[in-house]
Amino acid sequence: MSLEQLVDARLILVTGKGGTGKSSVAAALGRLCSESGRRGIVVEVDVFQSSMPDLLGRTPEYEARPVAPGLDVCNITWQLALSEWLQRAIPVQRLVRMILRNRLVGMFLDATPGVREIVILSRIATLCEQYDQVIVDLPASGHAVALLQVPWLADDLLDDGPIHQRAGEIIALLGRSDTRLAVVALPEDMVVNETIELVEHLAQVAPVLGSPVLLLNCASSPSLSFDERTLLDRLAARVVADSPAAELVAAGRWERDLELATAESLQRLSSLGLPLVELARMGALGGFHGGPEVVVRQLARALARALTQQTGEQQQEQQQEQDGGSP
Ligand SMILES: Nc1ncnc2c1ncn2[C@@H]1O[C@H](COP(=O)(O)OP(=O)(O)OP(=O)(O)O)[C@@H](O)[C@H]1O
Ligand SMILES: [Mg+2]
Repeated sequence: MSLEQLVDARLILVTGKGGTGKSSVAAALGRLCSESGRRGIVVEVDVFQSSMPDLLGRTPEYEARPVAPGLDVCNITWQLALSEWLQRAIPVQRLVRMILRNRLVGMFLDATPGVREIVILSRIATLCEQYDQVIVDLPASGHAVALLQVPWLADDLLDDGPIHQRAGEIIALLGRSDTRLAVVALPEDMVVNETIELVEHLAQVAPVLGSPVLLLNCASSPSLSFDERTLLDRLAARVVADSPAAELVAAGRWERDLELATAESLQRLSSLGLPLVELARMGALGGFHGGPEVVVRQLARALARALTQQTGEQQQEQQQEQDGGSP
């Protein structure tokens, strides 16, 4: 799968370890969608504290709300998703309210695994019918796996009925060629370990999803030569502590470590044989004062650039094949 297929997908699922930039990437994909003239929505999944006010400038509610031309945002809370589900099955509003208020029903729902997940995924499936592109900011690694595996569990456990049927429809949606997965990582050992585990886990529990695109966020491209890297250590031993020079050397060494960590992470992640895209860390020397919304815009630009580069490379390869094949 290529970055182009990810960006063009109808349903994009974004996950990764906590704090890797999942929500920022989801918001950036939303911005790209908006710029392409399609109708899109960025979806949060039952979050208590939304990141979207910082990233897209609006607190999402269950009902979609606009944040940019052609771009909406929402937060699928499971209770409202359940209420919507029941309303479809039982058109009498008052009856639905009574069912939801019933204590026994509440206990049943708490004790029945999978109901929350199915109604949330069902709402995502409904949004896919209404928008050109649905970008889901999934929960972090293990929680995303738990959510995505429920349709298969329901399909196995239940022989019949509306949940079984909807689970089948969700499995079909997840297996569509225009449903794509992005896994966001950082250039840190622990994060790379968890990313590799997550990719393997997802392939086991939701094989129809197909292979993901890996996005190495906060990457630092090589800028320092070997000699410069060595020089930094020599300088560190000589500069006067707490002086401006010491600060500069410390910043240089910090950059050097990030560049090395990025190179190492890229090497480890590339062993998975998946498309791998680098997204630069914004701001110099670790501080970025533009705020999260600006990070989102920069990430959208970085994705657009990576896309152009990839398309250019593909065209070049095709041209070379044609040239090689011609007499
Ligand atoms: N490429 C980047 N450069 C600089 N800062 C970034 C970059 N990507 C994300 N950030 C910043 O990192 C912080 C965490 O990002 P974000 O909230 O998107 O992560 P997350 O994976 O969604 O976190 P959580 O697991 O808590 O939901 C934010 O302040 C965001 O602005
Ligand atoms: Mg988030």
